[in-house]
Amino acid sequence: MDAQVFKKRILSAAQPSGNLTLGNYLGALKNWADLQKDFECFYCVADLHAITLKQEPSLLRQRSLQTLALYIACGIDPQKVTFFIQSHVPQHTQLSWVLGCSTMFGELSRMTQFKDKSQRHADNINVGLFTYPVLMAADILLYQANLVPVGDDQRQHIELARDIAKRFNANYSETFTIPEAYILKSSARIMSLQDPTRKMSKSDPNPSACIFILDSKDEILKKCKRAVTDSEAVVAADPARPGIYNLVQIYSALTGKSAEEVAAEFAGRGYGDFKAAVGETCADALAPVREEYARLTADKAYLEEIMKNGAEKASYIAQKTVSKVYRKVGFYQPR
Ligand code: TRP
Repeated sequence: MDAQVFKKRILSAAQPSGNLTLGNYLGALKNWADLQKDFECFYCVADLHAITLKQEPSLLRQRSLQTLALYIACGIDPQKVTFFIQSHVPQHTQLSWVLGCSTMFGELSRMTQFKDKSQRHADNINVGLFTYPVLMAADILLYQANLVPVGDDQRQHIELARDIAKRFNANYSETFTIPEAYILKSSARIMSLQDPTRKMSKSDPNPSACIFILDSKDEILKKCKRAVTDSEAVVAADPARPGIYNLVQIYSALTGKSAEEVAAEFAGRGYGDFKAAVGETCADALAPVREEYARLTADKAYLEEIMKNGAEKASYIAQKTVSKVYRKVGFYQPR
């Protein structure tokens, strides 16, 4: 019998972005690649979600392609997973409408990300920003996903998706698998190199704060060398010393060594040695990704082939759910 049948199903999505960071790499990209061994995975480039904030159309188009390429460069095998662009699978917006009618205004009003984003983009508080979590619920429920790997910041959205699914099931009979959040541990932990009390962010105005996956070896070494630490000069995994703690976390995530092992390895050595080691390890880990990315982006036809195949596979599964939902809510379906 096909072992595939018993694998739990995973769905995750990432917004198209041209400039992913080491934090994204350790938090999402690397995990996505690891998960494909044990689960049946659906991965999606969430371009529909992206337009809730202002986007330059030509850049958005470019970034969708780049995001696809970068994830593949990080080890996602398009033969093993279903990898697609959200707007290529119309069932996402179809289901989203129906689910919106099972979502309460009050629930969406309580979403912390909506409150945050409406504050930061006060000139563009559009309805899409408000209903964003409904579309996200559709992304997940369409594929009857069991698990949703996300960073901690998405936990509330997954809770809402569960509530919507349970409500729909209660009102219309068993339809959706109730998904569970699969919180990716390292995603929240990689902090800015310049202000280690803040998350490493690609939009940080200080370019030294952030290592980009596509940075050159030189840039990576320089940024690590300049990372803010303290004057204790002892490498230790002490959260009270956020700068050095962050570097230990990075080194530990890249090498698979525990924080204690890292501290032991650098006992009696200064920060200079340690920062150089972090930089080298980082650059070594990212070099193959950078090379593969360059190779892939030079072959647009290949990437488009992957997109098309992915959308076809995704759409086949998604349509089963949409047909079921349309029938249950009472939309007339002629024979
Ligand atoms: N909102 C997610 C983020 O910003 C991206 C996303 C869209 C997503 N749809 C999803 C994540 C479905 C998991 C499942 O990170």
